[in-house]
Amino acid sequence: MRTLSQLQQLNGQWALITGGAGHVGHAAAQTLLELGAHVILLDRSEQQLQQVHSSVYGSTDKVHTLSCELSQPSEISTAMAKVSELTQGKLNILINNAAFVGTDKLSGWCVPFEQQSLETFNDCLNVNLSAPFQLCQHAYELMKNTPGAAARIVNISSIYGVVGPQMDMYEGTDMGNPAAYATSKAGLMQLTRWLAANVAPRVRVNNIVLGGIERGQPDSFLNKYNAKVPLARMATEEDVKGAIAYLSSELSNYMTGQSLFLDGGWTAI
Ligand SMILES: NC(=O)c1ccc[n+]([C@@H]2O[C@H](COP(=O)([O-])OP(=O)(O)OC[C@H]3O[C@@H](n4cnc5c(N)ncnc54)[C@H](O)[C@@H]3O)[C@@H](O)[C@H]2O)c1
Repeated sequence: MRTLSQLQQLNGQWALITGGAGHVGHAAAQTLLELGAHVILLDRSEQQLQQVHSSVYGSTDKVHTLSCELSQPSEISTAMAKVSELTQGKLNILINNAAFVGTDKLSGWCVPFEQQSLETFNDCLNVNLSAPFQLCQHAYELMKNTPGAAARIVNISSIYGVVGPQMDMYEGTDMGNPAAYATSKAGLMQLTRWLAANVAPRVRVNNIVLGGIERGQPDSFLNKYNAKVPLARMATEEDVKGAIAYLSSELSNYMTGQSLFLDGGWTAI
């Protein structure tokens, strides 16, 4: 029987992380690098990627960057061709992490239901759900020919793909919780199950249901949020590392089509 440290090692493996210039993307990248993988960070702005690359990852030759606007299917195809070129046709791990999130300043987004716009609803589904579908399709072509253990896809969903929001929490803040975000995250969970049934045994697909991460939210929001979490606090980026390590490595070898709830107990009560 292998040891835990043998099961989690990713030496020589290739990982693609969307939203790689963002907060959770960074925690995921750091985790996979610590376990020995080569990491490709995909995000929309080349400038932002370069900034993150030089300020966070320094001179390591294990981090690569790839700019791609995920609302554009043609850009996804081009980016995945570049991934294939870089990895010589291999891919062990895909983390679908990029998303329109609650703090994005979009029109018809974090506003009352009556003002949410159909255009932004559709744009959100494009980035949060259709793009992962297309990325998985391209990734599967690489993954099914990648030698070694089954490749892994990890989707990043949210508690709001599982339960409805309690809107009183947002009163007096400029924060919100749009229907499109919740719908896209619920869709990503079901895409996880559907894919798991269709890409096994060469690829495993699992999902992380993430609770809110503390990032300077107003006290009025924090107090109400924390009162509803059994662990009495919001998540930190560091909390994500264990789940990424588990689902991205052979530690989770017999798991596919599942969701790992990383929410401090929010959905347990
Ligand atoms: N922050 C939270 O409280 C929280 C809670 C639950 C789930 N999540 C999920 O975690 C994931 C990461 O969120 P985060 O908090 O790190 O957000 P973030 O804004 O720090 O990172 C998201 C990244 O995705 C990129 N991105 C967005 N749209 C894109 C597009 N069209 N093309 C290419 N890149 C695009 C952004 O540029 C950004 O770098 C998301 O899927 C989010 O829904 C976050």
